[in-house]
Amino acid sequence: MRVEWNVMLKLPGLIDPHVHLREPGATQKEDWDSGTSAALAGGVTMVLAMPNTNPPIFDAETLDIALNAAKVKARCDYAQYVGAGPDNSDIVPSLAFKTAGLKMYLDSTFGELRLDDMTLWQPHFEKYPKEYPIVVHAESRSMAAAILFAAIYDRPVHIAHISLKEEVLLIKAAKERGIKVTCEVCPHHLFLTAGESPSPIALSGGSAATEVEAGRGVRDEGESAGRSEVRPRLATQKDVDALWENLDVIDCFATDHAPHTLEEKDSDNPPPGFPGLETLLPLLLTAVNNERLTIDDIIQKSVINPRKIFNLPEQPETWIEVDETAEYEIKASEQFTRCGWTPFEGWRVKGKVKKVVLRGAEAFKDGEVLAEKGFGRNVR
Ligand code: DOR
Ligand code: ZN
Repeated sequence: MRVEWNVMLKLPGLIDPHVHLREPGATQKEDWDSGTSAALAGGVTMVLAMPNTNPPIFDAETLDIALNAAKVKARCDYAQYVGAGPDNSDIVPSLAFKTAGLKMYLDSTFGELRLDDMTLWQPHFEKYPKEYPIVVHAESRSMAAAILFAAIYDRPVHIAHISLKEEVLLIKAAKERGIKVTCEVCPHHLFLTAGESPSPIALSGGSAATEVEAGRGVRDEGESAGRSEVRPRLATQKDVDALWENLDVIDCFATDHAPHTLEEKDSDNPPPGFPGLETLLPLLLTAVNNERLTIDDIIQKSVINPRKIFNLPEQPETWIEVDETAEYEIKASEQFTRCGWTPFEGWRVKGKVKKVVLRGAEAFKDGEVLAEKGFGRNVR
């Protein structure tokens, strides 16, 4: 008889600074219960939730709606962003201490929150307290403008989900000049390209995303990418390579977990967004296995840096146990997210979350979420 000892890898609980939990307003896609269950199943013990809900979170009243739902339903720890609107720059600073930070949508994406012209950016940059983060959805040249704002107002700005070579190179140059800019990258921008074969990062497998024959620079404006619709769009291999080559410039991994139902994704007008909470760590561990990443990179970008950038508390007695040797196929049918699909369906990965301990209590074990609804704490 051969006895196999699987020594578990112990990691700190991960922090995901960018998730969409859809409550209030679209709980058929996700809510604070299903979204935080997905987080725990993925080894994520703290999530920062975006404000593009329905209604959007943009004042004291809407913030209370989200926080009340979270208080009752969240199974992992959390904080909620408030969104920058055209006329709330005077009130959001007073809410800063209760929120993850201020989210500014400078380019169009899912939801109503969008600041079209730069006169609307200015009062937010002027008034939002510098101790709290401003996170911008700003792509390409809007991102360059946001970095200029960071320099002019001499305040930290965190760039969400970078995806392009030109973006990572500009952030590198800005950091070298002392501008207070940080950034995050999502697994889908590291592992998927538009209309090309996937990066050879997973052990094997295909993806919904790569079945679509058109992408950034290939697809005509307005033409749908089907399930692969996401903002920022999936980019080219050249962009993906540049992100991997400049990982030291990238501060955080973030999922941009953006669940939409399969029915919506397969419709004529699919909304942009991918679920990501349950695939983040297996994909990153597979990259470790393929020697493209180290465990230390994961700890740095999914724990230490987000804690520092967003000024988050440590979670005492909190860790995750991972079987680094477990190989398996990603299957939407095994996920906790309510959306029912994943762009990584069928990918073979190596590294499985076995157990999550959150503040001393077993929160997830062998495929089952054990933390009760309401166990999650607001870290603000
Ligand atoms: O693809 C995206 N989906 N990008 C975003 O910025 C928003 C998100 C969503 O909320 O669905
Ligand atoms: Zn997002």
